[in-house]
Amino acid sequence: MINELSNSERAEVLTQALPYIKRYTGKTVVVKYGGNAMVSEELKQQVMEDLVLLWLIGVKVVLVHGGGPEITELMGKLGKTPEFIDGLRVTDKETVDIVQMVLAGKVNKTLVNLLELHGGRAIGLSGLDGRLIEASVKDEKLGYVGEIKKINIGPVNDLLEKGYIPVISTIGCDEQGNTYNVNGDTAAAWIAGALNAERMLLMTDIAGILRDKDDPATLIPEISISEAEQLYKEGVISEGMIPKVNCCIEAIKKGVKNVIIMNGCVNHSVLMELLTDEGAGTMFTGKKDMSIKEKDAAYIADTYARFPVVLSAGKGSYVTDEKGAEYIDMTSGIGVNSFGFADDKWQEAVSSQAGKLQHTSNLFYTEPCAALAEKLCDKTGMKKVFFSNSGAEANECAIKAARKYAAQKKGPDCFTVVTMKNSFHGRTLTTLAATGQEKYHELYNPLTPGFVSVDTNNIFELEVLGAKHKIAAILLECIQGEGGVTALKKSFVNEVAEYAERNDIILIVDEVQSGNGRTGKLYSYMHYGIQPDIVTTAKGLAGGLPLGATLLGEKVQDVFAHGDHGSTFGGNPVCCAAAISILDRLDDGLLAGVAARGQYLQEAFKDAPGIKEVTGMGLMLGLKTEKPAPQVVDACRENGVLCLTAKDKVRLLPALNIPMEALQKAAEVIKAACAE
Ligand SMILES: Cc1ncc(COP(=O)(O)O)c(C=O)c1O
Repeated sequence: MINELSNSERAEVLTQALPYIKRYTGKTVVVKYGGNAMVSEELKQQVMEDLVLLWLIGVKVVLVHGGGPEITELMGKLGKTPEFIDGLRVTDKETVDIVQMVLAGKVNKTLVNLLELHGGRAIGLSGLDGRLIEASVKDEKLGYVGEIKKINIGPVNDLLEKGYIPVISTIGCDEQGNTYNVNGDTAAAWIAGALNAERMLLMTDIAGILRDKDDPATLIPEISISEAEQLYKEGVISEGMIPKVNCCIEAIKKGVKNVIIMNGCVNHSVLMELLTDEGAGTMFTGKKDMSIKEKDAAYIADTYARFPVVLSAGKGSYVTDEKGAEYIDMTSGIGVNSFGFADDKWQEAVSSQAGKLQHTSNLFYTEPCAALAEKLCDKTGMKKVFFSNSGAEANECAIKAARKYAAQKKGPDCFTVVTMKNSFHGRTLTTLAATGQEKYHELYNPLTPGFVSVDTNNIFELEVLGAKHKIAAILLECIQGEGGVTALKKSFVNEVAEYAERNDIILIVDEVQSGNGRTGKLYSYMHYGIQPDIVTTAKGLAGGLPLGATLLGEKVQDVFAHGDHGSTFGGNPVCCAAAISILDRLDDGLLAGVAARGQYLQEAFKDAPGIKEVTGMGLMLGLKTEKPAPQVVDACRENGVLCLTAKDKVRLLPALNIPMEALQKAAEVIKAACAE
C-alpha cells in the first residue's frame, strides 16, 4: 500500500513516526516470536523486515523465539507422537534432542538468516551459549521440561553493545550438562527483565485480552497487574490465556516497563505497536501498579524527607492513612488546616464559592477578595492588602513595598533589609536571602543582595548596622517557627519597633506561621504591643487553600501603583471565601480556647520526664527533649500521634479547635515518647 502513496504522503507517514522513533531509539525491545505467527512464510518475512527497520532506527532489538509447530512436525517425521500435560510438552531424552535440533538449529538459523537478508546484523544464541538460560527439572512427569532458575545476560548485552540483533532460542541448561525444553514466553519474560527492557512484545495469535472473548471490540488496551488479577477472578482470563498473562506479569515484576500481548498474525503488528499511536493488543504496564510511595519517589523531585505515611482522609483533628490506621493530628499541615481536616463550615464556604466563580483574574473585581481585604484591615488596623499564594510571596511583596518606599523617600541606595538570625521567610531567592540561616543559602548563591541578619534579643547589633547601612526595612518573626519555635523577647521587639519608628524604617512582621489565631491572638505581634508597618501572612489564613496576604499599614498603603506587582492566582475567590470563613470564626471565644489549649499543653509537659523545655505560645509549641526530636516524633507516630520537628525541637501545631479529648490523648502519647 505504501507503494500507492505519493512522495509527500510517504514523508508524512515518516514524520508521524518521528516521536515514536525518538522514544525507542537506544531502548531495548524484546520480541517473543513463535506459534502460529511463525508459520506463514510471508508473515515471517514481514516480521523480520519490521525488526530490521526498528534496528536501523537505533532500537536495541532482541528476538526470542520458540518453535512448537516445527518441533511437532519433526517429531512426526521421526515417528514420535507428541504428548502434552496441562499444555506442556512431555519431553523425554529423544524429544529434548529434537527440541534442541529444531530450535537452536533450524529455527534459530533461519531467523538469523532472514534478518541478515533484510539488511540487519544478527547472531543466534541458544540458552546453552554462555549458559544464558539456566534451568532445572520442573516436574518429573514432564521429563526434560525446564523451570528457569537464572539468566546470564552478559552475552546478550555484549551483542547489543556491538550492534547485533541477538536471536535467542529458548532451551535451558543445568550444571550436569542436561538440556531442557523451556517455555518460550517465560524465557522472554526473564530475558526482558534481565535487560530492563523498555518493552516486550509477546506475539501470539490472539488480539490481546478481550473482556468478551467473542467480541474483538472488547479488547482491553491497557491493564495493570492488579487489574489482571481481578480478571482472573472474574474468569475473563482463562484457559490458554492464563500462562501468557502470567508471563506478562512476570516480566513487569522483573522490571520491564511495558509488556504487550498482541496478535503477531496481523500485518506489520510490530511497527503498528511501536511506531504509531494505534498500538496493538493489550499493554501491561508497571506504572499503574506502583505504590504511592514508589510513584512519589519516581516522579516527584526529592526535596522532602517525608514521613513514611500515606494519608488518605481526615476529619477535624483525626486522620487515617491508606492502611486505615488513625492518628491524632498535631501538625495541621504545618499550621495550615486551622480547623482541621474537612471542616464542615470551611467545606461549605469553599464549595459554595467554587460553584459560583472559581477564578476570574485580577483584571476583574470579585466580592470575596474585597470582603476579605476589608475584614483583615478591620481586624488589624492595617490599610490595604495585596493577595498572593504563599508565605514566601507575601514576604516578597512586603520587601518590594518597603524598598520602593525607602527608595522614594531616602534615595535608591537605601535598600538594606535587616532580618534576624535563625529566622525563616521562604524559599524564593529573595526570601532565602532574608532567611537568617546559612544552611538554606548554600548552593543557591548569589542570592538577592541587600540583606543582613542580626542577632536576636540584642538591639546593639542593629544599631551598629544602622550606623553603617541605609536600612530600608526590618523583617522579623515574633515567634520564630522553623528556627525552633522561639519567641523573641518582648523588650527586644519593642526596642526594634521604636528604632524603626525613629529612623523611618519599615517594620515588617512575618506572621506566616504564627498568624491567624495560632498563638491565641489574631497575630502574634499583638502579644507584643507593637504596630508593624507591614504584616505578612499565609498558611492558616485560608484553612488549607493557598493564600498569602501582605497587609500594608499607613506609611506604605499607597506605595504600589498599577503594574508594580501582581499575581495570577492571588486573591482567588475560592481561597478568599475560605479565608473569610476562617477569620469569621477567630473571635474572642475561639482565641481564648486556643490560649487555654496551649496552657493545658504547657502544664502537661512542664517537668515531664524527658522534656527539658517548652517554648512558644498558644498552639505553636516547641518541646526541647532529651532524646533527639526525630526519634520522639517517630515514636509518637507509631503510637498514633502526628507531630513535627523544628530545628532540635518537637513542634506542635494542632488545629485551633482540637477537641480536648484528642489533646489529652496526644499529650499522653507525646509524654510517653519523651520519657521512654
Ligand atoms: C515564618 C515563615 N515565613 C515564610 C514561610 C514561607 O511560607 P511558604 O512555604 O507558604 O512560602 C514560612 C514557612 O514555613 C514561615 O514559617
